[in-house]
Amino acid sequence: MCGIIGYIGNKQALPILINGLRRLEYRGYDSAGIAVIEEEKGVRSKEKIVRVKAIGKIDELAKKVVGKDLIGTIGIAHTRWATHGGVTEVNAHPHTGCTDDLVIVHNGIIENYRELKEKYLAGHEIKSQTDTEILAHLIELFYKGDLLSAVREALSQVRGTYGLVVMHASEPNRLVAARLGSPLVIGVGEGEYYIASDTSPMLAHTRNVIFLDDGEIADIGLNKFEIFNVASEKINKDVNHIDWDEAQAQLSGFPHFMLKEIFAQPTVMQDAVRGRYNLEEGTAHLGGINMTVEEMHKVKRVILLACGTASYAAMIGKYAFERLAGISTEVDVASEFRYRDPIIDENTLVFGISQSGETADTLAALREAKRKGAFVRGIVNVVGSTIARETDGGTYIHAGPELAVASTKAYTNMAAVLLLYALQFGRLNRVSLATGQRLLTELRAIPEKMKQILEQSEKIKVLAEKYKNYKDFFFLGRGINFPVALEGSLKLKEISYIHSEAYPGGEMKHGPIALLSPDFPVFAIMTKNQLYDKMRSNVEEIKARKAPIVLIATEGDESAKELANDVIFVPPTMELIEPLLNTLPLQLFAYHTAVLLGRDVDRPRNLAKSVTVE
Ligand code: F6R
Repeated sequence: MCGIIGYIGNKQALPILINGLRRLEYRGYDSAGIAVIEEEKGVRSKEKIVRVKAIGKIDELAKKVVGKDLIGTIGIAHTRWATHGGVTEVNAHPHTGCTDDLVIVHNGIIENYRELKEKYLAGHEIKSQTDTEILAHLIELFYKGDLLSAVREALSQVRGTYGLVVMHASEPNRLVAARLGSPLVIGVGEGEYYIASDTSPMLAHTRNVIFLDDGEIADIGLNKFEIFNVASEKINKDVNHIDWDEAQAQLSGFPHFMLKEIFAQPTVMQDAVRGRYNLEEGTAHLGGINMTVEEMHKVKRVILLACGTASYAAMIGKYAFERLAGISTEVDVASEFRYRDPIIDENTLVFGISQSGETADTLAALREAKRKGAFVRGIVNVVGSTIARETDGGTYIHAGPELAVASTKAYTNMAAVLLLYALQFGRLNRVSLATGQRLLTELRAIPEKMKQILEQSEKIKVLAEKYKNYKDFFFLGRGINFPVALEGSLKLKEISYIHSEAYPGGEMKHGPIALLSPDFPVFAIMTKNQLYDKMRSNVEEIKARKAPIVLIATEGDESAKELANDVIFVPPTMELIEPLLNTLPLQLFAYHTAVLLGRDVDRPRNLAKSVTVE
């Protein structure tokens, strides 16, 4: 979703901002813009702000800035993902008030922008359809020579969410930033500061960062900055060091980030489990759970809150928690959870699962669960993200930066961490030492088995070529492989734009089977587990309707070949761990299909990486 990068220091801002915008591209956007306080011969004497905006890719903006006088060492820039108002240059940020003296970039939504307009802005010339421009005019209205006071006064009138950065031509050594519900991070460099919606655009310059919290305002100058809390008191905040580096944000020879991330799974899976289990005791020890053994024994219910792909990883966690720990577990799509009346008590353990750690619905659902007295923990990828900081403990999944919009390596690592949690709880009661050891031994073998599947990438590409022109697909799975089917289906639809649906195999005859025909290929996960015979019968039913069948089957299951048009074999493993393998061929199929169809694989249309609005 929208991205922000701002710079204040002694280097030229333009290249830093343009490169920063490129690092933010992964979040999804449809237009971009930049503003720099122009200097003459190194002196900010003209007090003039130059602004350039473009719809489409950052390259379009980069082309437009050529020849413009964007010379200056302070500036702000933005990638916009349209919410209020269509995708037009006028609607792109930065926005100004009536004059060009004040510019603002903003993520979030100003809910009462119509009221504000009516109450304060009669006579103002409003140029765009955005809520952000209203904020620009409001700050302009309250500006009496001190940008910080004007921002404060304007924000006191606002209802909604924001991560914003403002600059004013009359105070050319100052950026003012504020956060409420939409993340902002300050990067602390040598005599320079960065301000951005996440750490990715600043990693090439600094890895020392300060995360702003809700209600905080930062006043950033040339060699100093101050942060104020909701009560306008000056506060000191810790500087955090980020381990991720710039190299992880490069393609490193891969044609797309998605492929790079699919192929990273064997490595990052090791990072997710390393140091988090004890083979001798057959258990996991995730210290982030932050609960005493007595408290863990009291847990009677687990609720897993997440959206999209993360919710499918959560479904794998449900099977694991119920089977290993015997604890009743529900998966709730966060956007629904927050608007019903969930039953939660002090014996409920709630996990929020999120790659970005910023998903607005997941965050709101977790806050609701916390208000109702649950233990609330996070399973998150992005270090220092809001969910990571707002939960009372939890675990980083260590997948590294995930830059393709479609989630892949985060999904498998989320599932692995959930399996470890389920084992940790399971070993407190019903899981034997032998079962625990077997599970861990299998988990340790997964990276090598993943590699065997990845070696089949070219073969899967041939399948993608064969099936790429079909208009509809089914993905079927049973038990712990149902979430795999859901994930395979989501991957295909989001990056190739082909319609697909996922069902539990046993549900087909309750309706969906009516759709089957030779034009409706079916991917079925039919690996050797306790539901193998059941799934096989379902596949027979499909075969009888003459739909083309592609099976994900266990190596050595020669009979699969007779049943299906095509088979992708995966190495055998324990049933609970199967999703960590079975998902990979489906990720590869979606990837190759999208590439063959000429789609923008890493940045599919209409999608954003980090969904920070409701
Ligand atoms: C799909 C995808 C989305 C995200 C969802 C949650 O490939 O990436 O469905 O999984 O938006 O995002 P996070 O995990 O950041 O909370």
